[in-house]
Amino acid sequence: MNIIKGVSQLREVRRGWQLEGKVIGFVPTMGNLHQGHLNLVREAKKHADVVVVSIFVNPMQFGPDEDLDAYPRTLDNDASLLNALGVDAIFLPSIDDIYAKGLEQQTFVEVPGLSYMICGASRPGHFRGVATIVCKLFNMVQPNLAFFGEKDFQQLQVIKAMVEDLSMNLEVVGVPTTRENDGLAMSSRNQYLTDSERKLAPTLYEKMQALSAEVLGGRRDLTKLLETYKSELAGLGFKPDYLELRNAHTLLQPGHEDTKLVLLAAAFLGKTRLIDNLQISLV
Ligand code: PAF
Repeated sequence: MNIIKGVSQLREVRRGWQLEGKVIGFVPTMGNLHQGHLNLVREAKKHADVVVVSIFVNPMQFGPDEDLDAYPRTLDNDASLLNALGVDAIFLPSIDDIYAKGLEQQTFVEVPGLSYMICGASRPGHFRGVATIVCKLFNMVQPNLAFFGEKDFQQLQVIKAMVEDLSMNLEVVGVPTTRENDGLAMSSRNQYLTDSERKLAPTLYEKMQALSAEVLGGRRDLTKLLETYKSELAGLGFKPDYLELRNAHTLLQPGHEDTKLVLLAAAFLGKTRLIDNLQISLV
């Protein structure tokens, strides 16, 4: 497995692959890999001849009061997990490779609309940071296929919109959320949970499944339904940030004619912000 530190080395390796006609699959990450990331890699290996994984903790997508400094960095362990899966290269750009002029002077990419709602409303600037880094990484790696988890459902929609709007020449592939045995969506941030918070955490997804069952069963008083479940979550010890049912493509409020919906949730348990989603098909 190649460990590539700079952009010129990456371009050289990539040129070799291109000359051999290889399909390049790409999995961007911030490291601290868990089975969810490894499933992205497994999916990439099914569709591509060579797989590149980037590890870069992107300061532009963290808010001033968020966990940039505390974000777990576990490079040695990440590298051995990726090596065991047969990844061809890990790309480890430095902060200077990515933001040589500093964050303030950096040209950015912002997908309007989608970036400001739901998670974007709670985390101003977050999706600008995500779109900018993903655009830069796409320009560096120039993959044919890029793989993202559906757990970050809004992020996936933002990236798909960016690729379409900027006519980027690659396919974005969404990969279903990987869950723990008790249903909790895997996330690097789960390790911040205390033992008692960890026991409670799967209830978020259980409540989402119960809400989804009510919608599938015909309930249409959605505002009331969402409020009821939010209060239940609050009663159990969560601090809900949002619980929203949206059109699964536009993420706008659903109309009567919409059949593909997504239930999106974010809730704090102590200091940890959990997010999850559940797609609901009414056909
Ligand atoms: O999902 C993530 O881990 C990050 O948002 C990403 C896509 C690697 C961009 O930093």
